[in-house]
Amino acid sequence: MENDILILGIETSCDETAASVVRNGREVLSNVISSQIELHTLYGGVVPEIASRKHIEKINQVIEEALSKAGVTLGELDAVAVTYGPGLVGALLVGVSEAKAISFAAGLPLVGVHHISGHISANYIEHKDLEPPFVCLVASGGHSHLVLVKDYGVYDIIGRTRDDAAGEAFDKVARAIGLGYPGGPKIDKLAREGDSDAIPFPRAKVDENAYDFSFSGLKSAVLNYLNACKMKGEEVNAADVAASFQKAVVDVLVEHSLRAVAEYGCGKFAIAGGVASNSSLREAFEKECARRQISFYHPSPILCTDNAAMIGAAGYYEYKKGVRSGSDLNAIPNLKLG
Ligand code: KG4
Ligand code: ZN
Repeated sequence: MENDILILGIETSCDETAASVVRNGREVLSNVISSQIELHTLYGGVVPEIASRKHIEKINQVIEEALSKAGVTLGELDAVAVTYGPGLVGALLVGVSEAKAISFAAGLPLVGVHHISGHISANYIEHKDLEPPFVCLVASGGHSHLVLVKDYGVYDIIGRTRDDAAGEAFDKVARAIGLGYPGGPKIDKLAREGDSDAIPFPRAKVDENAYDFSFSGLKSAVLNYLNACKMKGEEVNAADVAASFQKAVVDVLVEHSLRAVAEYGCGKFAIAGGVASNSSLREAFEKECARRQISFYHPSPILCTDNAAMIGAAGYYEYKKGVRSGSDLNAIPNLKLG
């Protein structure tokens, strides 16, 4: 029997300082997340400089807690995996520097992980039977990608956003209707009280690539609608706006994704990223996948938003392939996938 592989995952690409110990890529022994959301809420969004400083303050404590909760010492680890892009450069640098220091001090291999590969790999944790190939929709604050997962860590991008990411649209619309940051969970909640057919917001199509997304037109349509109401002195029903906007996003994500699954075959579809915890999106995929006999996979909400368990999972498959990063590993804010 092969020996267990224990990976320490570290994630600091945005506003969560996170560390996790993962066994054999699929079993989470600890998953510690220190969120800065309350701090950034004061400013209506993530302030990069504040994020970097908070990461520096928290990172050691978060890693120590992850090791102690897992009951594992540095000497028992097999490797350190860290997100090195994409993300905020100052924030990424904190995790990368910390991972390099631990790798050097404890004599452990270092594995750099792509943040989106991490989000996709979150699906391996709770779905022990999930193996590539499959199609995955990654929808977060910074990304909206339709990805063909050909093998572990091997990706083809089928479609991507031309402008705003899905989560970014949620955050901007939430701000416009006075819900505050982060907007996704707040719109999700308010939308339950609204009528999703109340306002006919547009479903954008991108001519050059039918799998690409565009959400900036939808965001502008919501802002125009709010302005028009204000000019006419009409009261805005925020729940209807939230529900109608959310339906427009969900319709486009579902339509594009299911077409990709049909074209690329494999009968397996997964979602990942912060927006993947949206209840209406999950319900729509559950229904449509069941109708088409497609196996549908999604992580629990805690593994959808940024965390380090997903980095430990992705890092495991890179480690198994023999991928090793040198001490010159750098943060790459616009790192490409695949
Ligand atoms: O994956 P994530 O934690 O960070 C990035 O890599 O960007 O995603 C954060 C994004 C935010 O835009 C947030 O508003 C959105 O995910 N989000 C949601 C929900 N929960 C988080 N969007 C829609 N519905 C939700 N329930
Ligand atoms: Zn993310």
